[in-house]
Formats: sequence, C-alpha cells, structure tokens
Amino acid sequence: MTHSSSTQVIPLVTAVPKHVAIIMDGNGRWATSRYMPRVAGHAKGVEAVRTIVEACAARGVQFLTLFAFSSENWRRPADEVSVLMRLFMTALEREVAKMHANDIRVKVVGDLSRFDKRLQEMIAVAMARTAGNRGLTLTICANYGGRWDILQAMKKLVASGGAAADFTEEDLAQHLSMAYAPEPDLFIRTGGEERISNFLLWQLAYTELYFTDTYWPDFDGEALDLAIASYQQRERRFGRTSEQLVESKKAS
Ligand code: IPE
Ligand code: IPE
Ligand code: MG
Repeated sequence: MTHSSSTQVIPLVTAVPKHVAIIMDGNGRWATSRYMPRVAGHAKGVEAVRTIVEACAARGVQFLTLFAFSSENWRRPADEVSVLMRLFMTALEREVAKMHANDIRVKVVGDLSRFDKRLQEMIAVAMARTAGNRGLTLTICANYGGRWDILQAMKKLVASGGAAADFTEEDLAQHLSMAYAPEPDLFIRTGGEERISNFLLWQLAYTELYFTDTYWPDFDGEALDLAIASYQQRERRFGRTSEQLVESKKAS
C-alpha cells in the first residue's frame, strides 16, 4: 500500500499519533554527567528503546521510527562507532525473538552496505522473521540520512523511466526507504537540541515537532505521554485556516 503525500491530500488525524519518529539524542551527555564513559550512555539508551517500543505498542501507535545512527555519525571516534555497532548486533540478537512474540514488525533502513557482513545478515534475518507481523512496525534508521534517502529514491525514479515532466510527489515518495509507512504525525527529539540532523527530510513536511531536554536514556513512558499530550494540543491545519478546520470537523 502506498501512502498519500500530506502536501497533496489532507491526512486523517487521530488522537493517538499513528506514526512517531524519534531522534534518540543525549546518550553521551547522560553518561558524562554521571562521570561515566559515553558508551555507557549508549548501553543505557538500548534499555530506553525497549521501554519506548513497549510503551508505543501499548498506546496503539502503529509505526515507531528510531534514528539510531546517522550517515554523519561515522565522523565520530572509531572506538565509539565500533561500540555502537556491537550494541546494535547484541540488541538484535537479544531482542528480536521477544519482538517477534509481541507481533512487532522490524525494519532497518539506511545505506546498509557500509555495515559489516555479519550485521547485514542479522538485519536481513530479523526483517524476514518479523515481516508477517501485524502489530507495531518498528523502524531503525541506521547509516540513514534524509538526503541520501531522497537521492536514492530519485535515482530509482529516473531509472524506472517515464518523462520527468510527469513525475509526481507520490512517484518519488514510493521509492523512499520508508514508503511502507505514512508520514510521521509526531517527531520527538530528546537531548535538548532543536534540529533535524538530516533525519526524515521529505516526510517531516507536516509533522508536529516536539523537543525535550530529557536525555534519551531517561526518556520513559511518562515522558512519551507528555509528548503525546503536547501533540494532542496542536491544531494540524495542513495549510488551511483554523475556521476551515472547525467546519470540516462539523461536517464529518
Ligand atoms: C545519541 O546520543 C546516539 C547516537 C547519535 C548514536 P549521542 O551520542 O549523540 O549523545 P550526545 O548528544 O553526545 O549527548
Ligand atoms: C542525531 O544525533 C543522530 C542520531 C540520534 C542517531 P547527533 O548527536 O548525531 O546529532 P548532531 O550531530 O548533534 O546534530
Ligand atoms: Mg548527540
């Protein structure tokens, strides 16, 4: 199923966001503020992932997307990068069976070719094993960049043929790596920074943005509820006036 573009068709808005996308930031500062090595923050961050996956499933969120490693994170010290890779592998090893039992569909998107072969294999196995699940879809963005995604989609679109003058937003969007998901309703960034850092550039066009100073390892169900409560206060106009929105609610 392909989802329509929020700039072309006004999406249906529900009280519980269907799709939550999170930049899990602040692991390093969480650790250094405790006089611990940065990597201890990443280990603690994996626990927060488990908590938030369960919390989202319990609240009826259908798609949860987590930014785990950006295309720019290779710029970090080599030893930190290798700890992150190892954590990713152990998390896959330990968590996939439980996720599968909980009907969670696991997806990993990004340029996976740069990962080591064993990790690529584990990712393929996790995705294949959970592909038929119908509960929460958990997407991990790994070696992901919004610009990379738009560029790879554009290359596929051009390769598919057709006249450039006839290309539509939907034509491009169907080649994005998350074409299986609707655009995010709610974006959360923990850790205090207020930027997108090359996350889902195309899909965030009309997403509600929420920033919190809480470091990712401290982000829990209660913190998620605060973000959802903030989301529920927003008026999602998609370009229309507030009056039009009131009218359309009366009509439906
Ligand atoms: C987010 O935490 C995790 C990754 C980017 C992999 P950081 O490691 O960026 O933590 P801070 O921002 O340095 O505190
Ligand atoms: C964004 O966090 C990427 C992930 C959480 C995976 P960063 O910590 O890398 O972002 P910047 O560098 O502060 O923008
Ligand atoms: Mg950071």
